[in-house]
Amino acid sequence: MSVHPLLASRFSPLLFDPARTLTEGDVDLLLEAARWAPSAGNSQPWAYFVARRDEPEHKRIVRHLARSSARWAPTASLLIVTMAHRYVEDTDWAYSDFADYDLGQSVAHLTLQAHAMDLACRQFRAFDLEALTADLNPGPGWHIVSMIAVGTPAEEPPADRARRSTADLRTAPWSGLGDVP
Ligand SMILES: Cc1cc2nc3c(=O)[nH]c(=O)nc-3n(C[C@H](O)[C@H](O)[C@H](O)COP(=O)(O)O)c2cc1C
Repeated sequence: MSVHPLLASRFSPLLFDPARTLTEGDVDLLLEAARWAPSAGNSQPWAYFVARRDEPEHKRIVRHLARSSARWAPTASLLIVTMAHRYVEDTDWAYSDFADYDLGQSVAHLTLQAHAMDLACRQFRAFDLEALTADLNPGPGWHIVSMIAVGTPAEEPPADRARRSTADLRTAPWSGLGDVP
């Protein structure tokens, strides 16, 4: 038994096919997958601002890319701005520790759905967060967290994809456990 092929073959390209376009139905399907992620108390504290390459809103987002991401992200078929709702109304807790965590799970769902559709995603933080926030003006409690470029990869997966070992995952946080009492 090995890791599922969908997980094993996923990678984050830096080159996208500039001719590939996505339909509104494709975008809906990606968001449909994002919708089904688990979240703390089923709060679903995520939102997505989506712009396909030929839509006017694409220009609005591209203006805020950093120099690094401006080299590759605009050619992707779709750019998505991700948002988390960190503040929780109508409860006795003002701030959710899990909002960004839950958003990440929702994005992971979207990412694998994209891969199942023969697309690929590169998530990124290389943009001007302050300027993008001022431009999109999300409602109270909402925070922009990341962006996702989605499209057909125009490159092969890198040969060496470094990952920490499972042994390290199990032991890294502990310098030595005492005996079980
Ligand atoms: C929250 C987050 C932020 C990231 N920011 C950037 C970024 O600013 N620029 C970039 O080129 N890649 C960025 N990446 C992509 C990672 O570098 C990439 O996922 C990682 O190197 C592992 O490669 P893989 O996804 O191909 O397995 C980001 C990924 C995540 C999840």
